Amino acid sequence: MAISESTREQLDELVARYPRPRSALMPMLHLVQSLEGEVTPEGIALCADMAGVSAAEATAVASFYTMYKRRPVGRHHIGVCINTMCGLLGGDAVYDALSERLGVGHDQATPDGEFWLERIECQAACTHAPVMTVDWEFMDDVTPASAVDIVDRLQRGETVHSTRGPAIRDFRATEHSLAFPEDGLAAEGTPVDDKMLAGLRLAKERGMSAPAVPAGQEG
Ligand code: FES
Repeated sequence: MAISESTREQLDELVARYPRPRSALMPMLHLVQSLEGEVTPEGIALCADMAGVSAAEATAVASFYTMYKRRPVGRHHIGVCINTMCGLLGGDAVYDALSERLGVGHDQATPDGEFWLERIECQAACTHAPVMTVDWEFMDDVTPASAVDIVDRLQRGETVHSTRGPAIRDFRATEHSLAFPEDGLAAEGTPVDDKMLAGLRLAKERGMSAPAVPAGQEG
């Protein structure tokens, strides 16, 4: 896909946000990924050129971080956390159910390009384990049946909401938000709930506090 003038202008805008152009490389790669659902060699070359780094350096970034994809993800990215907490509470069973439903394995897209399935690492959402993500929106406390139901509803074209509120869009829209977070959606949903604050509440009830930072180690 030829990169449009509008995309170049957005890349320029990202570069202008930082004191040094190379600091914009990661959001630039997300922006490029929002175009086709993958980071193409052409996209990497353009980002490298505009960020003032070599194509090898930009490729190193794009191949190191797992959120950058070198093959098309398709319409929806489905992530299933299989780290310790989620794994213990059923994450592997959720992954197996989705793999069977979609007919694909880890890091694979369905032939119709609708879904990409991926085992993902801890999303710092262990309070609601096992956790699944759809286009990086949280689906908390999933079960094999509820995970498959989410995929079924997306496939039928129904509007599906994250358990934290926001409506699921698609992978490319999320990628654009990762480049430009000021999309007006930050206030959607309830990112923090009682369960997440339980530890803090207990600590307050029991008069607990963090140990003082030793002199000379502040900040
Ligand atoms: S182990 Fe799954 S979110 Fe932390």
